[in-house]
Amino acid sequence: MRIAVTGAGGRLGRAVLDALANAPFTGIGGPLAWRRPDYDLDDLDAAVRLIARDQPEVIVHAAAWTDVDGCARQPEAALLRNGEAVGRLAEAAAGSGIDLILISTNEVFDGRRTDGLGYRPDDRPNPINAYGSSKLAGEVAAATAYGWTPDDRALQGTGLGTSPGGGPALGIVRTAWLFGPPGNDFPEKIAHAAERARAAGEALQVIGDEAGSPTFTADLADAIVELIGSGQRFGGIQHVVNGGATTRAGWARAVLAGLAIEVPIQEVLGSTWVRASTLPAWAVLEPTLLPSSVPSSLPLAEPLRPWTAALADYLPTLRRQLAARPDVGARVR
Ligand SMILES: NC(=O)c1ccc[n+]([C@@H]2O[C@H](COP(=O)([O-])OP(=O)(O)OC[C@H]3O[C@@H](n4cnc5c(N)ncnc54)[C@H](OP(=O)(O)O)[C@@H]3O)[C@@H](O)[C@H]2O)c1
Repeated sequence: MRIAVTGAGGRLGRAVLDALANAPFTGIGGPLAWRRPDYDLDDLDAAVRLIARDQPEVIVHAAAWTDVDGCARQPEAALLRNGEAVGRLAEAAAGSGIDLILISTNEVFDGRRTDGLGYRPDDRPNPINAYGSSKLAGEVAAATAYGWTPDDRALQGTGLGTSPGGGPALGIVRTAWLFGPPGNDFPEKIAHAAERARAAGEALQVIGDEAGSPTFTADLADAIVELIGSGQRFGGIQHVVNGGATTRAGWARAVLAGLAIEVPIQEVLGSTWVRASTLPAWAVLEPTLLPSSVPSSLPLAEPLRPWTAALADYLPTLRRQLAARPDVGARVR
């Protein structure tokens, strides 16, 4: 299978390329890495050119403008990159009979849920920031290109949608709170912040009232490969996150405990954190059960492992990343 991955240099894109390189159905040449300057979200004709050049059978669209504060400051640019560019890619892909997996976000939801449950694919999106609005615009544009009707899935909040039978498939994979190589993620940033707080003799301030589903890019990438291997069963919306949920403060505590960095933590309200974007307070997704590509008489569905187990696997890599940065590295045991 010829599989192209956009955003190939990003946190998720590189994990998907790694996972695909080991997949039995990936072609001899390996997956196709689409990145700038060849694939640029600001160039709306780029997808048409690359599809004609590489003729993939499946595209995983991991590229996006992920700077949520930048999106808040420039909402038109956000809509162009995360909305219109997705529509153009999806139209070109659907028109060429190519399956598409579109990576989207928990931030299509407003986060105002108070019943303690995670958002499901059939919950109604209601983004509260420009990044979430632009990603939802991308979902809708892709759904339109693949012939989903307004009665389908999140457009009306009525349930899982599927592509009309026979044509190429669109899978929308929503995820959240990604962590993984090459770093510069929440675990690495919190380790740096903890060292700064300790050096200053202060408590580390972390938001205590924002909850989410931390997700390891390697696990998400494996799940995407499973979805591709399952064929057209990936059509529809999937919520793919590691199991469990926590607050930013809970996540920080787990990271710092794993790195043996001791610093007092002071939980603060998200409303005290001045930034351009407003983040959903309850950003938790309920994981959908993934189809498995492995033929089996067992039920075909399984969730990803708990985020705490995934974080434990990431710690050695995180330690190496931190060790490469002299300000923190020397102190991480
Ligand atoms: N990070 C999260 O916590 C999170 C949560 C939920 C959903 N997601 C979604 O997951 C996907 C992957 O995110 P990520 O964490 O891997 O983000 P990332 O590390 O910021 O990677 C984004 C990728 O998009 C590319 N990109 C950005 N602007 C571009 C442009 N104008 N033209 C072409 N490529 C461009 C980047 O290219 P360069 O390498 O050239 O900059 C990078 O490869 C995105 O769809 C995102 O919306 C992320």
